[in-house]
Amino acid sequence: MKIAVFSARPYDQQFLDEASQRRGAGQLFEFLYFDAALDLHTAALAQDCEAVCVFVNDRLDAPVLQALQVLGVRAVLLRCAGFNNVDLAAAGQRGLFVARVPAYSPEAVAEHALALVMTLNRRTHRAYNRVREGNFMLDGLLGRTLHGKTVGIVGTGQIGLATARIFNGMGCTVLGHDPYPSAAFAAIGTSVALDELLARSDVVSLHCPLTPETHYLIDDASLAGMKPGAMLVNTSRGGLVDTHAVIRALKSRRLGHLAIDVYEQESGLFFQDRSGDIIDDDAFQRLMTFPNVLVTGHQGFFTVEALQEISEITLRNLADFATGAACPNQVLAA
Ligand code: NAI
Repeated sequence: MKIAVFSARPYDQQFLDEASQRRGAGQLFEFLYFDAALDLHTAALAQDCEAVCVFVNDRLDAPVLQALQVLGVRAVLLRCAGFNNVDLAAAGQRGLFVARVPAYSPEAVAEHALALVMTLNRRTHRAYNRVREGNFMLDGLLGRTLHGKTVGIVGTGQIGLATARIFNGMGCTVLGHDPYPSAAFAAIGTSVALDELLARSDVVSLHCPLTPETHYLIDDASLAGMKPGAMLVNTSRGGLVDTHAVIRALKSRRLGHLAIDVYEQESGLFFQDRSGDIIDDDAFQRLMTFPNVLVTGHQGFFTVEALQEISEITLRNLADFATGAACPNQVLAA
C-alpha cells in the first residue's frame, strides 16, 4: 500500500522510516514523502495512494477530501492529536477512514508550556542576547517568583493535566476549567468556572481543543475578566485566541505577557523558513514588536520521544485500516 505523506520534513521521514523498520512494515507500506502541504492544488500528489498521512496545517475540507477520494484514497492518517482541520462529516459521507494520534507524550507539550512561562517570566530570551554582547545589567530582567502563584488550566485533559502536575510541583495553586473534570485533576487542583479561573489566575494556560464552541474563547470580554498583568499561554490551537483582541489588551497593559506556540494564521508561516521574505501578516508582525510576547512555531510536540510515539501510533492506525481491525484512534463525525 502506498501512502502519500504531506508536509513531510526530514525528521518526519526519519521517524516514520525507523518505526516502519522496527515493525517490519516495510514490505506492507510504501511511504511517498512530499514537503508540500495538502490542499486542493497538491492533492494530485496522492495519485495511486490508498492513504494520506497529514499534519496540523494540511487542509482536509470537503473539496480536498472529494479530490482525494476520486484519486482512490481511502484513509486519512493524522500525525497529530487535533483534528480541527478535517471536515469529518464530509469524510464520513465519502467513507474515508480517519484516525489520529490522540496522546503522544503529553508531557512534551506541557514541558514546552513551562519553558514559555519560565522564559517570559525570567526574561531568559533577553538575558541570553544581552550577556553574549557583554552586557551584564539586570535592568528589565525582573521576574516574579512563581511559587505560591495561581495557574489556571483551561482544558484538563492529557496535556492540561500534565501541565497542572508541573505547576503543582512548583508550589503553585492550580485551578482548572473543563466541562468534563477528571478525578486525576481533582487530586491536584480545583475546578472552577472559566470566569473565576480568568479572574484569579496569574498564568492562564490553554489546553482545550479548537471547536466551534472554543473558537475565540479568549476575546475582548474574557481578556477584560483576566487578572491585570496576567500571562496568557497558548500551546493548543491558534483559533482559541482572537489575536486582535490580545494586541489591544497588550497595548492597554491589561495583559502582562503573551506566550504562544500556535497562531490562528500559522499555516502560511510555521514550519517554513520565511526569514528572507516580507511577511504581510500585520497582526503577527505587531505581536513581534512587544517585548513581553514570546512566539514559538508550533514546536510543543517536538521531542524525540513524541516523534517516535507519533510514528508508532500512525503505523498502528495504518495497520488497523489495512487489516480492517477495530481502530481505537478512529475519528468519526459527532
Ligand atoms: P484531550 O482531549 O486529552 O484534552 C482536552 C480537554 O479539553 C478535555 O478534557 C476536554 O473535556 C476539554 N475541553 C473541551 N472543551 C472545553 C472547553 N470549552 N473548555 C475547557 N475545556 C474543554 O487533549 P490533549 O491531548 O490534552 O490536547 C489538547 C490540545 O493540545 C489538542 O486539542 C491540540 O489542539 C493541542 N496540541 C498541541 C500541540 C503542540 O505541539 N503545540 C501538540 C499536541 C496537541
